[in-house]
Amino acid sequence: MIRLFRPRWKQDRKDLQQSVSLQKDNIPQHVAVIMDGNGRWANRRGMPRVLGHQNGMKAVKRTTIAADELGIRYLTLYAFSTENWKRPKDEVDYLMKIPQEFLAIELDELVEKNVQVRMMGYTDGLPKHTIAAMEEAVRRTENNTGLVLNFALNYGSRREITDVVKKAIDEIGAGRFSEQDITEDWVSSKLMTAGLPDPDLLIRTGGELRLSNFMLWQMAYGELWFTDVYWPEFGREQLLEAVAEYQRRTRRYGGLS
Ligand code: IPE
Ligand code: IPE
Ligand code: MG
Repeated sequence: MIRLFRPRWKQDRKDLQQSVSLQKDNIPQHVAVIMDGNGRWANRRGMPRVLGHQNGMKAVKRTTIAADELGIRYLTLYAFSTENWKRPKDEVDYLMKIPQEFLAIELDELVEKNVQVRMMGYTDGLPKHTIAAMEEAVRRTENNTGLVLNFALNYGSRREITDVVKKAIDEIGAGRFSEQDITEDWVSSKLMTAGLPDPDLLIRTGGELRLSNFMLWQMAYGELWFTDVYWPEFGREQLLEAVAEYQRRTRRYGGLS
């Protein structure tokens, strides 16, 4: 058992003092989060939606620290979906500024804390400044060996899978490949998550009970955990609660326990 009561990083929140007992040998290796509820969090306070997104950055920091401390190896955060372009331009513009804003403040510390930043998503349509900020973070942390912090930005699972289908057709058409070569492992190796294990645990904040086009293939056997807490209020306490619940589950993968 490990007891967690103190963050190793700069402490800025009371909830970081929360103490929970967890089994050390059953920490999910890969945790993915659908960070939802920013707009409603802001609306409830009579604030514009973008302030919800701004406060969401603090939750990203808290969650990253707590995940690192817990020994989670991969943390994937759904930051912008391929469908989020449907939103008003002002909101999309603000969301596209977040990587720059977040990394300007946090990148040095991420480098120092041995976090490796990755990006998963389509670069087409993203503003240059957004791509530049992400690329800088990826480059500066590429040799880090600690927590992998994987941002899903302009990510959509159906497009990702459709691209693999096209790739298979190309390979076969070019004679490099035959139909038997298309295995589940091959498909996995062509997804944007290539090299990452499938998520063990998916957390969705904000009360909606759906996947919203997130990691449809990869979540075949991942555990789901939902909370009504809006993303800007999420932190260590909720992450520990999710992991504690994960540890109470029995994963059967279709077999018997
Ligand atoms: C999640 O919060 C952030 C993104 C989808 C980019 P929302 O902006 O979806 O907030 P709600 O769901 O409208 O409250
Ligand atoms: C999912 O949230 C996308 C992200 C959190 C980035 P949405 O707010 O876009 O999902 P829906 O529209 O409620 O399904
Ligand atoms: Mg939402």
